[in-house]
Amino acid sequence: MKQTFFTVIIFFILVCLTTAFFTFRQANRESQRLTTDLQYRTTLLADSLKDKVEPYVVYENKPVLTRIITTFVDDKRIMGVMLFDNKDNLIASSSADSTVSAEMTTLIANSMDEDKVSADTLTLAKKKVYVFALPLHQDTNVVGSLVLTQNAGFIDDRITEIWRTNIIRLGVQATIVFLAIFLTLRFIIYTPIHDLVESVQALRTNPGDSKARRLPDNFMLRPLIREISHVNQSLIEARMAASEEAKMRIEKLDSPWTEQRLHEYIKQILKDRTIFVVSNREPYIHVKRGNDITYYVPASGMVTAIEPMVRACNGTWIAHGSGSADRLVVDKHDAIRVPPDEPGYTLRRVWLTQEEEKRYYYGFANEGLWPLCHMAHTRPVFREEDWHTYKAVNGKFAEVILKEMKNTGHPLILIQDYHFAALPRMIKNARPDAQIGMFWHIPWPNAEAFGICPYRADILDGMLGADLIGFHTQLHCNNFIETIGRELESLIDWEQFSVKKNSHTSYVRAFPISIAFSGRPEEKKGDEGALVKELNLTPVKYIGVGVDRLDYTKGIIERLKAIELLLEEKPAYRKTFTFIQIAPPSRSQIAAYHALETQVEEETKRINARFRSGSWQPIILLKKHHTHGEINRFFKIANVCLVTSLHDGMNLVAKEFVAARSDEKGVLILSKFAGASRELKEALIINPYDIRELSEAINTSLQMSILEQKSRMKEMRDTVGRNNIYRWSADLLKTLVEIE
Ligand code: G6P
Repeated sequence: MKQTFFTVIIFFILVCLTTAFFTFRQANRESQRLTTDLQYRTTLLADSLKDKVEPYVVYENKPVLTRIITTFVDDKRIMGVMLFDNKDNLIASSSADSTVSAEMTTLIANSMDEDKVSADTLTLAKKKVYVFALPLHQDTNVVGSLVLTQNAGFIDDRITEIWRTNIIRLGVQATIVFLAIFLTLRFIIYTPIHDLVESVQALRTNPGDSKARRLPDNFMLRPLIREISHVNQSLIEARMAASEEAKMRIEKLDSPWTEQRLHEYIKQILKDRTIFVVSNREPYIHVKRGNDITYYVPASGMVTAIEPMVRACNGTWIAHGSGSADRLVVDKHDAIRVPPDEPGYTLRRVWLTQEEEKRYYYGFANEGLWPLCHMAHTRPVFREEDWHTYKAVNGKFAEVILKEMKNTGHPLILIQDYHFAALPRMIKNARPDAQIGMFWHIPWPNAEAFGICPYRADILDGMLGADLIGFHTQLHCNNFIETIGRELESLIDWEQFSVKKNSHTSYVRAFPISIAFSGRPEEKKGDEGALVKELNLTPVKYIGVGVDRLDYTKGIIERLKAIELLLEEKPAYRKTFTFIQIAPPSRSQIAAYHALETQVEEETKRINARFRSGSWQPIILLKKHHTHGEINRFFKIANVCLVTSLHDGMNLVAKEFVAARSDEKGVLILSKFAGASRELKEALIINPYDIRELSEAINTSLQMSILEQKSRMKEMRDTVGRNNIYRWSADLLKTLVEIE
């Protein structure tokens, strides 16, 4: 619509400029023509009068002269005639009002001085007048001047008339032409193209939509529409074939899980039910950049993991709207269809005040529960106000969820993470028919460690509102049940791995989360040269990479220290090994995170200063958010990837690195305290607190033969390909819907 409008405006300006140019030329020519005509007529008149008055001028015979010129004026219908002697004095005039302006006197005097005709258009009494002065003679002497005045105002009137006529004509023509252009653009070009785009989009994102099959009919675009209709048809057929194949694969358990297979599986087990997912972090964050609104996907493994599931059933994702432009893009129900490029589900945003965010998210969730659950030796901080706000925010989310699912019978809800420990109970109390799954994405500590939390009983009771509680590893499940046994009055069934409290049973299960990888090799190869150039690096033989949020649980400092020890003890790596650490800042408002950021920067600086040589430095710290695609480029060129978490629920970076290595090269160094170490056994498993062990592992990885690298990587790729996120989602959902 905007484009149509601008096109019409541009046309309008061009037509106006063209009309103005031609009107200007026409007016100029007309003005010249009329002026010449006036000059010519006046000259003829003056010549015919001259002979009659010349003999009387020298005698200054006023009555005779006045009679002659009055008769002449009446006859010839000119404005006036005046006679002057050669001293510039008026002798006779055809009219009683014989005002003579200074300009006119000069013109007459000049004419007599130079003894030649002088004429000009002057303004007399606010009127345009053509003044013509002709010298009169006796013998050869100038004895006076014959002055004729003619009305010249009609020339301006004529020019004005030309402009007026042309502007009116332009107005009428422009309105007709612009209406025609507008209607053509709107209905013959814009609307059919818009319908075409909508139909192709619907086919891509929601093939069931009736729009997907309805192509516009338009004579101008017919060849294009015909081609698109063929492409559409092929796409529908390909989809049906893939869906058939996926249905068959559901039965064959050894075939890999794919998004398509999950899609079919979810349709089969959910029938017509849909899912409500709840998380603190939203999958798409809209922000303002200058006058534009853009979005980004946050650095969160949870988002990567959950999205395929919600998409598969066109579900609703309820999350905190934290972006600066989030409110500007939602509809009146605070919802928006996402992914923005290919809408497949609804994101319902919940708004929090700054105070709520400070106490619930930064406070209780990230200064309390996060360090409580991660054994990284950072003390948790428990503030009573934070806990109250945490409960209140859980209540706020509960209200939104209950509203969203008020028309859904027997709803399915999947609650994500430690931000919502109180939420399952709140929903269960209001909607006992709801099937609630809760997945705890971080570790669960042992019962003794959890016992320091002042609100432990409320937290546990809140979680037991869920029918299914999932963790990444069996160890975390065991820790959870032991904690329940120690803190709450309940009935634990070790065989079923369930907890019964007030006649409601919660099942506890391990679901090792994963990534969207089906084991298929990627086409794109690593482009080391390009990346080295972009980062302005000194080319080296070995590259190491680490990708972590700047978080004290990730063991970044330990990693840097191990690199220092390696360079100290094995100087051969100086100038031949560079370690790139991608570390987007995270939760920077919290003192512990801020302190870590400073410490990482200082350690990097110190180690670089110690070993720097020429343009080479051992550590490159990239402290900004990188997209999935950008990170993959680093993974593809690395000889080693370091995942050295001090404690981690799973750690998807380890799996992402494996997935990126379709060349089957590269070595993964993995902390034994990350959940991923239970699955990726072919990684070099280390204790990140043991700096020497870590340093030696880096050396081993860089010296490992390609053959060994390939055999380890192949195994790990098989593991991740088999146990991917589609399988995780299928297992989790199946377990939940089967609980009665
Ligand atoms: C951890 C949590 C995730 C969370 C991520 C990012 O991995 O388990 O649920 O999404 O950290 O943290 P943030 O506080 O930025 O959401």
